[in-house]
Amino acid sequence: DRATTHLRPVAHFTAHDTWLNDPNGLVFHDGTWHLFFQNNPHGDTHGNMSWGHATSTDLVTWTEQPVAIRHTDTEEIFSGSAVVDEKNTAGFAGPGQTALVAIYTSAYRPTHPTLAGRQAQSLAYSLDDGRTWTRYEGNPVLDRESADFRDPKVFWYDGADGDGYWVMAAVEAADRQVVLYRSDDLKQWHHLSTFGPAHATGGVWECPDLFPLSVRGTDRARWVMIVSLNPGGVAGGSGVQYFVGDFDGTTFVPDGPGGGPQGADWLDHGRDYYAPVSFNGVADGRRLTVGWASNWDYANDTPTAPWRSAMSLARELELVRTTDGRDRVVQRPVLPEEPRDGLVVHEVEVPTDEGRRHEIVLHGDGPDAVVLTVDAAARTLTGDRRRSGDTEFHPAFPSVDTAPLHDAGATVDLTVVVDGCVLEVFACGGLTALTQLVFPSTPLTRVTVREVAAA
Ligand code: FRU
Repeated sequence: DRATTHLRPVAHFTAHDTWLNDPNGLVFHDGTWHLFFQNNPHGDTHGNMSWGHATSTDLVTWTEQPVAIRHTDTEEIFSGSAVVDEKNTAGFAGPGQTALVAIYTSAYRPTHPTLAGRQAQSLAYSLDDGRTWTRYEGNPVLDRESADFRDPKVFWYDGADGDGYWVMAAVEAADRQVVLYRSDDLKQWHHLSTFGPAHATGGVWECPDLFPLSVRGTDRARWVMIVSLNPGGVAGGSGVQYFVGDFDGTTFVPDGPGGGPQGADWLDHGRDYYAPVSFNGVADGRRLTVGWASNWDYANDTPTAPWRSAMSLARELELVRTTDGRDRVVQRPVLPEEPRDGLVVHEVEVPTDEGRRHEIVLHGDGPDAVVLTVDAAARTLTGDRRRSGDTEFHPAFPSVDTAPLHDAGATVDLTVVVDGCVLEVFACGGLTALTQLVFPSTPLTRVTVREVAAA
């Protein structure tokens, strides 16, 4: 353990001594941010999937709580979401109570007497602010007799006539489709429409999200659909594409010509950003996401102990219209307000005139380093972690990941966050993000910026 202590991030969530993957049930309620997560309560690799739980009041200081929803002999608890049932539509709350309702995937084990091998959607509720959870006796509430129907994201949709309803976005993973359903009580669901396959389809589709997002400098909002896919991500293995378009309460229609992975927009261009979803229950209009900072190619092999895997920082999302006329997502990380030991944030700006090339070298006391390169001629940012420390644990790990720089002006601005084993880079005001894991022998706390010969 001692050897990897410096790799544990201080502002990114990690479980104390177990495995985690996708964020689940992100919800803000009564002043507390709840982060549930895919967790193996008994080990440091994927298995026995259950919902772990952590809470925070600032999104950068997390306290791990007891496991919220546990696997059983016949069922694993896969990814999903949580809502605050203000109107008690499901009827779980007694007088004076408010129920938090989790909508999760029951992944039935081969031992299940009737549903073996199937994935269907189920409910659990909490009447004590997320501390303890009770499974609904009518589970599952939505069953398509499918082996790959999972990851329900439920949100409240305000109908045009003030007559709102719940909407669920879930995937038929193997079909590369997002299926949309509606409900008045979270128990009975009616199919609305099906989206996809579209754009990147090189892997199964997982963990969808759908939400309105305002366009900066306007009073307009568009709808954004997030779809994780694995493999087939832009940097190899797991990745996250998004679509901007419109949603009328029934159907999501993306902007522009469809077709082909070339048309895809990516939330992140590094190898280690997956399954991001947004918080429910945020009343101030901010759209905040958390993703999982890893890649299924090697997630089970990363060299940390006794914990394995970290979440990304929370990111605040907005849309901006770029000069090519497209609405694109910008992301800004939520950072601690005070400096914190172990967390380094570099704000760097490099000029782009005459096709110049700059390296931003992240290093520590030893030879290990990550080299970020801003190539003004190619309009790219690359992250080279081939000599970043321990890279040998999996052949897909030592990588150079490349991201496009949209609308770069006379300079490119970078926000570089280094926190233990997680490196998150935001460029051009957050139009480009690049997340990479690193396992250096000493922390990469320092930065050197230098100009290099054009390629
Ligand atoms: C995505 C995912 C989900 C599934 C969960 C299982 O990383 O594969 O589709 O619900 O992980 O842990």
